[in-house]
Amino acid sequence: MSTIDKIKELKQQRNAVILAHYYVEDEVQAIADYVGDSFYLSKIAAKEEADVILFCGVSFMGESAKILSPQKTVIMPDMQADCPMAHMADIEKIQEMREKYEDLAVVCYINSTAELKTYSDVCVTSSNALKIVKKLPNKHIYFIPDENLGRYIASKVPEKQFIFNEGFCHVHKGIAAEHVRKAKEAHPQASVLVHPECTPEVVEMADYIGSTSGIIDFATASGEQEFIICTETGVLYELRQKNPGKRFYLAGNQQLCPNMKRITLDKVAAALEQMTNTVELEEEVRVRANQPLERMLELGS
Ligand code: 13P
Ligand code: SF4
Repeated sequence: MSTIDKIKELKQQRNAVILAHYYVEDEVQAIADYVGDSFYLSKIAAKEEADVILFCGVSFMGESAKILSPQKTVIMPDMQADCPMAHMADIEKIQEMREKYEDLAVVCYINSTAELKTYSDVCVTSSNALKIVKKLPNKHIYFIPDENLGRYIASKVPEKQFIFNEGFCHVHKGIAAEHVRKAKEAHPQASVLVHPECTPEVVEMADYIGSTSGIIDFATASGEQEFIICTETGVLYELRQKNPGKRFYLAGNQQLCPNMKRITLDKVAAALEQMTNTVELEEEVRVRANQPLERMLELGS
């Protein structure tokens, strides 16, 4: 039996649903029931009715699914697939900021550990951060962990005062303005589509700035034919599926997230067969981390 047939059979036996982020390998995206950006996938996880959620992505995604859907069994193909940025904020610093600014809102990018979420007021993703921050009554915003996304949102909300944290995504930080300039020289007609985890210099060169879904939707709706893509390579799969006639170029040559690429079809099949890679959280942590996530669903939808 092929691995794909095995996955289909096990999925039925377990009453499981497969969620995948756009950054996982093409063949994993191809077998998923839902593929999307972080916000879309968390909404699906919150309302999905299957008994088991198999999350093809990194730890914070599986954790968020478990926080939002505690009655489900959430499993992951590779428990080592983790986002380094999710750990790049400090609880003591959060407490320090809360003491310093009375009206502080701690706005936590969903790319964060469950523990960091428990100290936060609201979670955001790249597709809803602007909308949510605008709705907050607080003037002071401590944005964790991603500095680049924080700076991009801050540039759109000048009436608020942001405090930034030094977290970053190594994949997006690795896309240099020089790479984009060279790609633009080679393809002068191409529009530059940028994820806000990129540096401010790259964001400044963009024709469009948005989440992975935003980039895909923009290119699909556009009358243009050529695009320079400034995010992880995995989005090319959906971009090409939806736009067979259009041309997509990567700005750099290192746009690969090694953690997302740990997810393979064999590991998907093994996770469904063994059911041992379950996401577990202490109930107290889960309940506290649920508050900012629920607030995100409420303010972001
Ligand atoms: P989005 O899919 O929400 O744009 O997130 C990008 C990302 O880095 C996920 O790890
Ligand atoms: Fe984390 Fe960046 Fe990989 Fe997304 S692409 S999981 S932010 S390291």
